[in-house]
Amino acid sequence: MNSGLEKLHPYPFERLAQLKQETSVVTNAEHIDLSIGEPKHTIPEFILNELQKQLPMVASYPTTRGIDALRQAIAEWLSKRFQLPNGSISADKNILPVNGTREALFAFAQCVINSNSSHSKAPVVISPNPFYQIYEGAALLAGAEPYYINCVEANGFLPDFDAVPENIWQRCQLIYLCSPGNPTGAVIGQESIKKLLELADKHDFIIAADECYSEIYLDEDAPPVGLLQAAANLGRNDYQRCIVFHSLSKRSNVPGMRSGFIAGDAELIQAFLRYRTYHGCAMSLYTQMASIVAWQDEGHVRGNRTLYRQKFDAVLDILKPVMNVTRPDASFYLWPETPVPDAEFATGLYSQQNITVLPGSFLSRSIPAGNPGENRIRVALVAEIDQCVEAAERMCEYIKTI
Ligand SMILES: Cc1ncc(COP(=O)(O)O)c(C=O)c1O
Repeated sequence: MNSGLEKLHPYPFERLAQLKQETSVVTNAEHIDLSIGEPKHTIPEFILNELQKQLPMVASYPTTRGIDALRQAIAEWLSKRFQLPNGSISADKNILPVNGTREALFAFAQCVINSNSSHSKAPVVISPNPFYQIYEGAALLAGAEPYYINCVEANGFLPDFDAVPENIWQRCQLIYLCSPGNPTGAVIGQESIKKLLELADKHDFIIAADECYSEIYLDEDAPPVGLLQAAANLGRNDYQRCIVFHSLSKRSNVPGMRSGFIAGDAELIQAFLRYRTYHGCAMSLYTQMASIVAWQDEGHVRGNRTLYRQKFDAVLDILKPVMNVTRPDASFYLWPETPVPDAEFATGLYSQQNITVLPGSFLSRSIPAGNPGENRIRVALVAEIDQCVEAAERMCEYIKTI
């Protein structure tokens, strides 16, 4: 057995299910689920139509590289969205379709980590804390040691790269960024990326930026900067050491379609293609066809942002007077502070108000600098606006009882 398997932590939703099983609900009020980051807005009909139309393509095996038309559509979307210099992104060399970012974030570490390094150089994978748990599992199963950087309010919920010791940078082979962040919604800026690129050059590691929330931003005039964009702004048009992960799940409300892509450093893409050819995870052809039309349309994405913005406005008006909660730059999450320990808060809220949220400490680890998820909850504003508002009102009622 892979010894990393024993090191894997229970998944946050397993822990949440356990917590709910042990709690009795003492209200007849309707259940409102704000725990899972699963978009609930209407699926654009043109995507469903295309899926249906292309279903007969199940007659053929798809290739790992995907069809040219998909990589071309992605290259065009990526270049336009992040204002990448003309010709710096080639559909052939810099793009690879993936079946959602989850599998790709996991598989990428298996491909790039060299666990045969000598002991003093035993590989380290750096992750934000709190974080999407796949980063940690990917590191452990690749034979690396996870190292966590706390992302706390005092730092705008962003990783402080200066706080990482030199010996960790020396052993680092891969760092995961999550920008916009889950669960904090914080966006890592150009200056911070510049610093990280310098460290990556000095210590020879790869930057894997999970940007699956990049299209769910709150200021229509200020889309979050991406890793490739920040690299290009520094004249690094070869995107060396940089890989970004993008997904249609949140952008286009199709989490079940399992469609995303990775892009960046041509050498890394080539290596990952080789790995995936053996791994055997090609995207079905009908999904590829539906993905093309999804990446080519921005109207439905703007519509999504409008709905999320309305929900943030309404819910923050209700919660701000009773909780320390800030409006994030992006994502569809709130990350408020709780007046009692987070798991106790989530249990009480479920019991008294039949509302499910995720305890912050289920998304974070305790390190000497502290546990940044303690006394916080993650609230996913995925339900309809009326339900989100009702949930916020009921949360206020619950807080009054604490
Ligand atoms: C930070 C983050 N990354 C990646 C994913 C995976 O998304 P998908 O595999 O649907 O692209 C999620 C899903 O919730 C997420 O929150």
